[in-house]
Amino acid sequence: MVSSDVWDEQTASSYVEDSADMFDPAVVGPTVDFLRDLCAGGSALEFAIGTGRLAIPLSRSGIRVCGIELSPAMVAELRTGASEAEIPVVTGDMATTVVPGEFDLVYLAYNGLSNLRLQDEQVACFRNAAGHLRPGGHFVVELFVPPLRRLPPGQTAVPFDVGTDHVGFDTIGPVTQACRSHHYTRLDDDTWRYDVGNFRYAWPSECDLMAQLAGLGLAARYADWDRSAFTAESTKHVSVWRRLA
Ligand SMILES: C[S@@+](CC[C@H](N)C(=O)[O-])C[C@H]1O[C@@H](n2cnc3c(N)ncnc32)[C@H](O)[C@@H]1O
Repeated sequence: MVSSDVWDEQTASSYVEDSADMFDPAVVGPTVDFLRDLCAGGSALEFAIGTGRLAIPLSRSGIRVCGIELSPAMVAELRTGASEAEIPVVTGDMATTVVPGEFDLVYLAYNGLSNLRLQDEQVACFRNAAGHLRPGGHFVVELFVPPLRRLPPGQTAVPFDVGTDHVGFDTIGPVTQACRSHHYTRLDDDTWRYDVGNFRYAWPSECDLMAQLAGLGLAARYADWDRSAFTAESTKHVSVWRRLA
């Protein structure tokens, strides 16, 4: 039984609007370029493929793309933009679901790893990625750096967006590595909608250890898809591990 929240129809139907900044061509373009370069004309498997934000443009750039996705509602949204023949998707948990074939690239973008709320599941996810890769193939993860430096003693909440139409903050449990993202969104009728998501944070070094357990070695770590340098101030990382022979 997977620990992840299963995204429902309402979340799926508002995903494009709620994550509008992630659909900006200035974000999608460099991400797809980065992933395409690693595929070298071959094939890719996206874990937690969602509505196909990245998979659709990657597929249309000439890469064969498949996906794994837990939420049937998110897959239904993807199907409004790409057919099963174009992008085959298996509905299931990315920690355990197996897709036929061997891939040049497996990728897990936009904090997807943190949806797995148990360390064992995150370890299994790395092993599952490695199991889908040809030797020399790459696993790429885009993940936030836990914002613990912003937590003074006694405080458990970190705001990440305080605007007139949206207020978002994370509550963080440093012992369990549990994280809850709270969103208050103003609706057209001036009422507020509350949404909450549950996550598990992991440090980049913990990811490296999970990769090592799966037979993957770190090839590169960047601050973003533009290959900018990862530093102590980076709020997220784009990490690339290679499947060892
Ligand atoms: C932030 S969205 C990212 C979707 C897409 N990768 C993107 O970049 O737009 C996170 C996705 O992870 C999916 N998800 C959560 N837990 C999962 C799991 N255990 N296995 C597969 N997919 C999962 C959710 O249903 C959702 O579609």
